[in-house]
Amino acid sequence: MPNIKDLASQFPPDFAWGVATSAFQIEGAAFEDGKGESIWDRFCRVPGVIADASNGDVACDHYHRLDADLDLIAGLGLDLYRFSTAWPRVQPLGEGAWNETGLAFYDRLVDGLLARGLAPHLTLNHWDLPQALQDKGGWNSRDTVYRFVDYALGIQRRLGDRLAAITTHNEPWVVAVLGNEQGTFAPGIKSRKTAIQVSHHLLLSHGLALKALRAEGATAKLGIVLNMAHTMPLTGSPADRAKARLDDAHGRRWYSDPLFKGEYPAEVLADLGDDAPVVLAGDMEAIATPMDYLGVNYYSRALASAAGPIEAKDKPYPKTDMGWEIYPDGLRELLLTLHREYALPPTYITENGGAFPDASTDGRVHDADRTDYLATHIQAVGQALAAGVPMIGYMVWSLMDNFEWSSGYAKRFGIVHVDYDTLKRTPKDSALWYRDLVAQCRARRKAGV
Ligand code: FCB
Repeated sequence: MPNIKDLASQFPPDFAWGVATSAFQIEGAAFEDGKGESIWDRFCRVPGVIADASNGDVACDHYHRLDADLDLIAGLGLDLYRFSTAWPRVQPLGEGAWNETGLAFYDRLVDGLLARGLAPHLTLNHWDLPQALQDKGGWNSRDTVYRFVDYALGIQRRLGDRLAAITTHNEPWVVAVLGNEQGTFAPGIKSRKTAIQVSHHLLLSHGLALKALRAEGATAKLGIVLNMAHTMPLTGSPADRAKARLDDAHGRRWYSDPLFKGEYPAEVLADLGDDAPVVLAGDMEAIATPMDYLGVNYYSRALASAAGPIEAKDKPYPKTDMGWEIYPDGLRELLLTLHREYALPPTYITENGGAFPDASTDGRVHDADRTDYLATHIQAVGQALAAGVPMIGYMVWSLMDNFEWSSGYAKRFGIVHVDYDTLKRTPKDSALWYRDLVAQCRARRKAGV
């Protein structure tokens, strides 16, 4: 593992460090103060879909512990905090009336960040669509695109003057594929045709929101966050290599090509046949609206085999508690690929981190495995930077243990431990390490190195 001084020396003084969370995973207060129902509130009630049969009703109770949590973030000495607004908290039905109490909560959050010297990075859609919009077709309906643009404008008018960054969507692939094709995430639909149309509407709403926000005079930087793996063939055989290229086109380029080139990959369109999306005149041009930044979420590589899906036991590298291979080189390779293929805007790692079964001893959490994961991945970002990729910041997923979607509370990604009986927060050793790394970068900043 690289030591802190060497690691810090890989980054320029203005490189930004942060942590990330999302509303549904930490807030709780799911039915309080006028909040509307989200598709995740509904989905969690379907028997069998969440591993520990849990839900987001209380989560980390962040809604009621806002000030203490802001102090916790500030205590790590970071530059920025990435969070999301829950659409149903601010506009319960996804259209029409706004919920003043919900807006006031995010007002306090943003002001609290600024007061502590932290730049607010807001995500509009981290998956918790108002259920009322799902009842009208959700992201499969083109009307949701226009509702999203209105929601973006509502947030801009209330908070925009104080935001450093606005991300439209977090990981559209997850919403489309896990939510609408595999059905393992909300809203639990199993249709490839629906999923593909959903992906198009997510991208379109991103582009139209960017145009509308700019027309409104937004001063925050505007972008999107994509989840991407580095896809590799299982063997060097031509068949495995072809499968790796096709998987990469489906999982990654389906999202990044339209954003940066204004077109869907032809081989994916051919592969989709009748499931290809309905695209209207002007859609692709809107999707390709230039962005101020790209956010990349990276957790692991993906392996491809022409023989079919590869089981975890056949993946050679050590794995996190999610069963995801630990492969930091993939992060560097992914960033180099993106840099080669596109004229990248300034780029953040908006999520990176690992779930590990933390054994809590002596009132501290000695999570050396998580620290090692972070250090090796941050080193990979430094290598990409040295090779010319325009990296401007890094955010750990996640600030604290939280509701990990269909895995419930069993998988812990936090650098801060949460005791779900008492809701007490305890910084893990990885949080102290990250704080020290950022402090080292700050010291270099002050010294003008
Ligand atoms: C990403 C999500 C985030 C979290 C991590 C582990 O796909 O954006 O909310 O669940 O995975």
